[in-house]
Amino acid sequence: MLDKVKELIGEVNAFNTTSKEEIETFRIKYLGSKGILKDLFAEFKNVPNDQKKEFGQTINLLKNSAEEKVSTLKEAIENAVEEKGVYGDLTRPSEPINLGSRHPISLVKNQIIEVFNRIGFTVSEGPEIEDDWHNFTALNLPEYHPARDMQDTFFIEKNPDTLLRTHTSSVQVRYMENNEPPIRTISPGRVFRNEDISARAHCIFHQVEGLYIDTDVSFADLKQTLLYFTKEMFGKSKIRLRPSYFPFTEPSAEVDIYWGLETETDYRITKGTGWLEIMGCGMVDPNVLKNCNIDPTKYSGYAFGMGIERIAMLLYQIPDIRMFYENDKRFLEQFKSVI
Ligand code: DAH
Repeated sequence: MLDKVKELIGEVNAFNTTSKEEIETFRIKYLGSKGILKDLFAEFKNVPNDQKKEFGQTINLLKNSAEEKVSTLKEAIENAVEEKGVYGDLTRPSEPINLGSRHPISLVKNQIIEVFNRIGFTVSEGPEIEDDWHNFTALNLPEYHPARDMQDTFFIEKNPDTLLRTHTSSVQVRYMENNEPPIRTISPGRVFRNEDISARAHCIFHQVEGLYIDTDVSFADLKQTLLYFTKEMFGKSKIRLRPSYFPFTEPSAEVDIYWGLETETDYRITKGTGWLEIMGCGMVDPNVLKNCNIDPTKYSGYAFGMGIERIAMLLYQIPDIRMFYENDKRFLEQFKSVI
């Protein structure tokens, strides 16, 4: 009997837990009204007199051990909760937070804005859903003008026409209608064309339109601005203007920059010429000024338009335009280090 009690003392001392439920089960098992100690105390009267003293002392020891165990385990739990507090351990290092990164289109757009901001251009925006007047007619592209076919348009409604703008030149018209010269503004934005999607073309892309209107603005001013832009944007200072045609400018030109022929990629992207086309430009046609209530006998100006994807592909050597729209983290994460 005595050995049994001593064994129980060993068990009590060895018991350990951090669970409140287990402590309670332990307490009921030893100290509860139908517990082990209750039985042992009832047994006391059957113990022979000469053993009563030792038996009594031993079951008291068991009782004290069990009570102490319950209180120390409970205290340990409470202390642990206190240490954690509401916020846990405030001195622990924080969880690593993955920083996001800007989309390459935004990076290039912001860079273009910054370059033109430095020479006094403001930023303006217009709607993506346009009417015929702002996208075509005011820009010297009346109905049945053959150049309309070049811009495969997504129409939303016919008569009167509502469409997804095919270029940001529509913002030129809106800006001139609402502002007096001098005007110096660039208009970045999304444009839409019903084209087959391939590595080089997409039905959604981005452009930046530029517009400068004042007295005595000349073609030389345009050239100087373009030279400044290509130096700042690409670090290249050789450009050439090839005569071209746009209905809204006269004369019109396409701008090429001399990219060089140093690497194999240079050969590939310039088709072995060293030259790359980056935008269209020209002197704003007097008809366009008239359409926007600006007197062409008093004012003149230049305009230009470029594709952001094309520039981003050049700067970051991106081989396929579709990569911009696939939301592939492996692609996007590569722009983390660029601000
Ligand atoms: N809107 C033309 C396009 O989408 C680009 C352009 C060319 C804009 C010449 C201009 C310009 O302002 O003068 O292809």
